[in-house]
Amino acid sequence: MNNALIQLQNICKTYHTGQISYVALREINLQIKRGEYIAILGPSGSGKSTLMQIIGCLSTPSSGSYILNGAEVSGLSSNELARIRNHTIGFVFQKFNLLPQLNIIDNVALPLVYRGTRETERKRLAQDILTRLGLEHHLKHRANELSGGQQQRVAIARALITDPEIILADEPTGNLDSKSGEEVVKIFAELHQKGKTLIMVTHNYNFAANAKRIVKICDGMITEDVENFSH
Ligand SMILES: Nc1ncnc2c1ncn2[C@@H]1O[C@H](COP(=O)(O)OP(=O)(O)OP(=O)(O)O)[C@@H](O)[C@H]1O
Ligand SMILES: [Mg+2]
Repeated sequence: MNNALIQLQNICKTYHTGQISYVALREINLQIKRGEYIAILGPSGSGKSTLMQIIGCLSTPSSGSYILNGAEVSGLSSNELARIRNHTIGFVFQKFNLLPQLNIIDNVALPLVYRGTRETERKRLAQDILTRLGLEHHLKHRANELSGGQQQRVAIARALITDPEIILADEPTGNLDSKSGEEVVKIFAELHQKGKTLIMVTHNYNFAANAKRIVKICDGMITEDVENFSH
């Protein structure tokens, strides 16, 4: 029996813009077990974000099969995908994607609104997790009043508040100075220790070295998939 948490089989993705079609992923086969920590590397335009969006149920493949947690998800509706995202996946993006005018507690609590969690409970959970990430002195601040590194920690808190099994991070350190980037990577290492499944796209080889498995993508294809023996 195959017990992979994430199973991609012959995944292809073609974008159509007017008359032009662009093949962004070609026959991707990838299996990821619970608790793995994977870094995805590859040149700009190679399909990394496209792959992350499919794994994260933000987009669907043009063809192929995606089995997540034992269930085929490639043909699901956007509502069904949204529900799976809310229960299974936490996303961290290069540009943080916070709501700038909301305070950081409300930003972090947002995924729980969609679950119908009561407001007092939402705020308590958001405050707890922000405190764990060292932001206890900034709880009243709006997102746009924080540094990039602090904003990314808020975004990580928002990704974690639903206690998702899978954390997907698409160049999470891309907009950060090196010290803030190291802090983010340290948080990921701790999440890995706690048994979370982590997939991180990065251009930084030092940060990729933290992962236990390295997958390289070029022209929409996996060109390398190796264990990281530096551990
Ligand atoms: N929504 C879209 N519509 C049309 N083409 C797209 C779309 N999204 C991505 N592409 C194209 O698909 C290819 C892969 O894009 P993708 O964003 O996955 O690359 P990437 O590896 O994440 O690059 P980067 O390192 O620059 O973030 C690119 O050529 C891109 O132009
Ligand atoms: Mg990208």
